[in-house]
Order: sequence, then C-alpha cells, then structure tokens
Amino acid sequence: MQYSAGSSSSIFRPVRILIAEDEAVLRDLLVRKLMGLGYACESCEDGDAALQLLSSNPFDLMLADIFMPETGGISLLKEVMRIRPHIAVILLASIVDIEIAVDALKYGAYDYITKPFSLEEMSISVSRALEKRRLIIENQNYQRTLEEQVASRTYQLKEALATLEQTYHSTLAALSKALDSRDADSEGHSLRVTAYAARLAWQSGLNETEIRVVEQGVLLHDIGKIGIPDELLRKRGKLNKTELTLMQKHPGIGFRILTQIQFLKGAAQLVLQHHERYDGKGYPLGLKGEEISIGARIFAVAEALEDLTSARPSKPAMSFEAAGREIGKMSGVELDPRIVEFFQRIAVSDWKMIHDEILASAGNWLSAGNRQIGGKERNLQESYSDGLSPAG
Ligand SMILES: [Fe+2]
Ligand SMILES: [Fe+2]
Repeated sequence: MQYSAGSSSSIFRPVRILIAEDEAVLRDLLVRKLMGLGYACESCEDGDAALQLLSSNPFDLMLADIFMPETGGISLLKEVMRIRPHIAVILLASIVDIEIAVDALKYGAYDYITKPFSLEEMSISVSRALEKRRLIIENQNYQRTLEEQVASRTYQLKEALATLEQTYHSTLAALSKALDSRDADSEGHSLRVTAYAARLAWQSGLNETEIRVVEQGVLLHDIGKIGIPDELLRKRGKLNKTELTLMQKHPGIGFRILTQIQFLKGAAQLVLQHHERYDGKGYPLGLKGEEISIGARIFAVAEALEDLTSARPSKPAMSFEAAGREIGKMSGVELDPRIVEFFQRIAVSDWKMIHDEILASAGNWLSAGNRQIGGKERNLQESYSDGLSPAG
C-alpha cells in the first residue's frame, strides 16, 4: 500500500488517485495498474463527475484525459486547482498540442502525457508527481512552522521587554521614593516633579524616547544625595559655607553613579545639570542658556512649580495660579523663557489635575500615556527639541 506523504494529518492514509478518462478500456487499465501498485483509486468518465468527486474527497493525484465530454481541458484543470490547490495533476492527451501542453504546465499540471503511452511510463510519471508534491507540501509546512515560530518568539520577546521596562520603572520609582524619604520635607517630591517635567517635555515637542530619558533623569535628580550625610539633609535653617560646598557635590555624585549604568547614561546628563540656571549662576558647571541640556531646562521649570506649590516648614504652599505668576517672573533669569512659554500654554487646571493624579496613583503613574494627564493637543510647529538622546 502506498501512503500519502503530504501533511501530517494525512500521513497514514493511502495515496488516493482519481482517474478521469472517457475511454472505458483505458480507464480500467489505468485503475488496475495503479491499484496493483498500491494506490487507492477511483474513476469517472467526464470532467463534471471528476469535479464532484474532488469536492468531497481529498485526492492526492488526478490523472485526467484533456479531451473529455462536459468540463474538460484547461478549464477543468483550472477548476481542480481552485478547489484542491495541493493536488498533483497529470494530463493525458491523444494528440501533441504544444500550446495546450504549455498551458497545462502553466496552470499547475505536473505532467502532460501523450497517447499512446506505456503503463510503465505512466507509473513513473505518477510516482514522480507524487514525490514533487510531497516536497512542495513539506516545504510549505516547514515555512509555516518557521513563520509560527518567529511570530511566537517575537511575541515572547516583546512580552519580556515590556515586563523588563515595567520592572525597571518600578525600581526607579521605588528608589526615588526611598531617596525622598531621607529628606525632611520632600515626601513624593521626585514623583511630582517627574510628572510635571514629562508633561512639559511633551508640550515642548520632545519625542517618546526623549521624554523617557527626561523622566528617568528627573526621577533620580537627587540620587547624588546618597553621598550627603543625613544630618545635613535634615538640617533646618541655612547651611554654612563648608556644608554648602558639600551639598553642592550631589549633582556630580549622581552623575558618576548613573554614567555607570548603560540605560541611564542619557539621564545622567540631566542629573549633573539639575542645579544649573539659565542665567549661568547655577552649579556645578555654571552653564548658561542653551548650554544647559533641554531636559535640565525643562526640569528647572517643573522643579520650580513643585517647590512653589509645596508646603515647607519655612513657607506655606502657594496656589498653582500664584506659582504660575512666580514662574513668569523667573523667565530669562533662572528659567529658559521658551520652556516657561510652553509651561504657560498648559492650563492651571491641568497642572492641578496632574498633582492630584500623582497623589491618587501613589507613584504608579509611570506608564505610557500618563504624561498626557490633563494634556491638550500640543502645537508641533511651536515645539522644539534639541536632539536630546538616550545616550547624550
Ligand atoms: Fe538637587
Ligand atoms: Fe528636587
């Protein structure tokens, strides 16, 4: 018995051959010969009957006389290929017609045999056609498996990356919370400044990647305070000169920590520059204007907003309206006037909404889309970005 070597589902069933031949003697001869070779055969005497049998039975091969009553010739071949695209078809013809032979091959026939032929010749053609069909099906199965594997691996990889990203965001948020808790007055400070800065970065026209870098830098802006003693951080009142010098080392310490972590290298720049001022009177480098990275200039406005609207032992919290006016006064002095302009385009109610969201979400806001809390459509023509990159 010959077994089908096509798809895995049909691997253990015998090879099924359909013989469509209107000459009864030849038809019986073909059936006997092929059954003798171990194939399961069925036969019919015209094209319509062949199509009917094909539509309900999974044949592997069809031997068909090209000149038959009812549907015959190339139109039969086309219809067969439409309903059974994986079948191997061998056409039998009583005359040599090059044009028909070429058409037959063009429309998917495996072979074209002219009568009279020997049964031996026909058997060889059948086994060759079945072998070719087996290879084609195997190849298609292999391709499909390969595509499925690629799709599944890609999906797994994407999932893993998303988890990783979520994990490191949570880690950064936890770290920043821990840092804030060392400071006497800054519970939740970093999270709020990060939310304000992200919104402002979006308004200023930074792209997703650049905003992500700003978020990381702002979240960790005071990480260098790890190197500052507790008593200095918690000291009420003014710092003396030595204490001030020590305190002013924290941007540099933070920078050195973050540059050692590959994915935080871009954020390190913002950390180093987070106490620079637009007028050049900041520290540690005394950078001026656009010498300061856009991330640090955005940070300065966000930090000012957070600082003014937070209560401290030395001062009460200012309203968002009053803070907005104060920030206007700082434009061109501590703060970049263009960033202040972007800041002023965002409604006071939006800033309040962001503030309340952060309170409500308890720091879990660091996911895509949250930066648009209370956001309005930004005007891209008016926005700008100085090419801040994750590595820069
Ligand atoms: Fe700082
Ligand atoms: Fe701060």
